[in-house]
Amino acid sequence: MLKLGLIGCGNVVERSHLQSYRDLKELVKVEAVSDLDENKAKKVCAEFGAEYFNNYKEMLNKNLDCVIVSVPIHLTQNIVSNVLKAGKAAITEKPGASNYEEALELVSLSRQNKVPFTFVQNYLYGTKQMQAIEASKNIGEIFLTRLENVCHGYGALEKNFDMGWRLNKSNRGCLLNHGFHEIYLMLHLNPSPVESIYAVRRNFCYNSTEEDLAIVVAKHKNNGITQITNGFLHNIKETVSVEEIHGTKGSIDIKNPPEILKLEKEYSHTRFFREKFLELQKGSFKDNLAEFLTIHKILDAAYDSMNQQNEVFL
Ligand SMILES: NC(=O)c1ccc[n+]([C@@H]2O[C@H](COP(=O)([O-])OP(=O)(O)OC[C@H]3O[C@@H](n4cnc5c(N)ncnc54)[C@H](O)[C@@H]3O)[C@@H](O)[C@H]2O)c1
Repeated sequence: MLKLGLIGCGNVVERSHLQSYRDLKELVKVEAVSDLDENKAKKVCAEFGAEYFNNYKEMLNKNLDCVIVSVPIHLTQNIVSNVLKAGKAAITEKPGASNYEEALELVSLSRQNKVPFTFVQNYLYGTKQMQAIEASKNIGEIFLTRLENVCHGYGALEKNFDMGWRLNKSNRGCLLNHGFHEIYLMLHLNPSPVESIYAVRRNFCYNSTEEDLAIVVAKHKNNGITQITNGFLHNIKETVSVEEIHGTKGSIDIKNPPEILKLEKEYSHTRFFREKFLELQKGSFKDNLAEFLTIHKILDAAYDSMNQQNEVFL
């Protein structure tokens, strides 16, 4: 039985991760939980019979096989590096770092100390996304990918919802947070390397220094174009998105992809965690850190393009 520690148990943990730990109770046991919000953490401790730590650093002295980090973006890199320095395997919620330099530091730490590390996000093992990625291999040369998601599910339908840390300067804006998903999908739907990025930003809804709308156009080496529209504009509970891929031999609507893989309609975090926990148990952990770095490189290029108001070459 793998022993898990959780650092941060807010929105994403409550809405997604906890169900996976329930689903995988034969494989893992939540042993320790740290959150600055004692009430939230103690609720999780009560359900899983775990120990509460106010200070996550004290939790790292415990015998744990893996630590899952799900804290506000600007705090993530420092916390993950402390987990890796303590010799514990770490899985961080996306984006895992605020920029490429921070991401590279984490990858170097993991490699130098030989401690497993990777990132999780709910698009990673989503049934529809996996079907679409597989189907996209059969539609010829991809020339256009459209990924549009301008909704967020936080405080769904609450008027004047406070976006808190999500739109303060140290976390950048919607692109680093939500756009991470679309950039991940772009890399899988059109695997031709990205050559250049052009991006623009606006503040439509929130009075913030950071963008609540970003439009990114990526040009791939195969001359294909990916257009990403990403925003924190509407607080719709189930995020509504438009995701299409067009190739020389056909098109795919990602919301409704052909079912060409034999996949259980399983919850995406559960699929991901099961695979990673089994790999940890067998000592054969596979990370996707090359992809982690590429996503951060593209995100940085998009922010550079917004600032320079020009195309940025990678
Ligand atoms: N995969 C997804 O689809 C998805 C969805 C939402 C959020 N996320 C990511 O998950 C992370 C957390 O987002 P969230 O929406 O759950 O945020 P949140 O604000 O709801 O929760 C963050 C939690 O971290 C705790 N925290 C802050 N500093 C801490 C510290 N030093 N030690 C222990 N706990 C600490 C806070 O008290 C809070 O409970 C972010 O990186 C976000 O981008 C991913």
